[in-house]
Amino acid sequence: MPAEGPREPPPVLISEEEISGRVDELAAQISLDYADKGEIILIGVLKGAFVFLADLARRLTIERRIEFIALSSYQYGAESGAVRLLMDVRTDVRDRHVLIVEDIVDTANTLHYLIDMLRAREPASLRCCALVRKKERIRSEVEVDYLGFDIPDRWVVGYGLDLREQYRTLPYIGIVDP
Ligand code: PRP
Repeated sequence: MPAEGPREPPPVLISEEEISGRVDELAAQISLDYADKGEIILIGVLKGAFVFLADLARRLTIERRIEFIALSSYQYGAESGAVRLLMDVRTDVRDRHVLIVEDIVDTANTLHYLIDMLRAREPASLRCCALVRKKERIRSEVEVDYLGFDIPDRWVVGYGLDLREQYRTLPYIGIVDP
């Protein structure tokens, strides 16, 4: 059987330059909003958020600490919406300012679960920042405090986002047909 050839690069939805410009703006806004709050804890949601978190965190001008959390959503039947905790943060968030960093908000079930879970730990404040959001797919009521882009309901890859673990390191956000 012949080896699989190189894949065509996915068409661009959001270019590297557009992402970079928006991450600059988000970092500036967050730095301003938390300027007098002391250290904040950034919680990146694995795996997808690793690229966005790395870029955002390095552009902040405020004191910050990095944490990660891993969640998995069950996709039995027609998207049951059940979320399971795979790996927790390694620090106590009580009385700390917490900012969740997500790559994508799709149904928002993951974010909803995470906000409930973290809120129960009584942080001083809890906000979330997401790079992209599929507004028409949202099923859970959640507020995204800092948003990069609203996008159409297409399968997107790159900048941390994958299709069956492929394309995560693509430098832009592209569209694929799964
Ligand atoms: C993606 C993404 C979000 C979640 C959003 O994670 O990183 O965490 O889905 O979907 P929702 O709004 O419908 O809950 P995924 O489960 O694909 O895992 P990965 O980040 O490890 O690829």
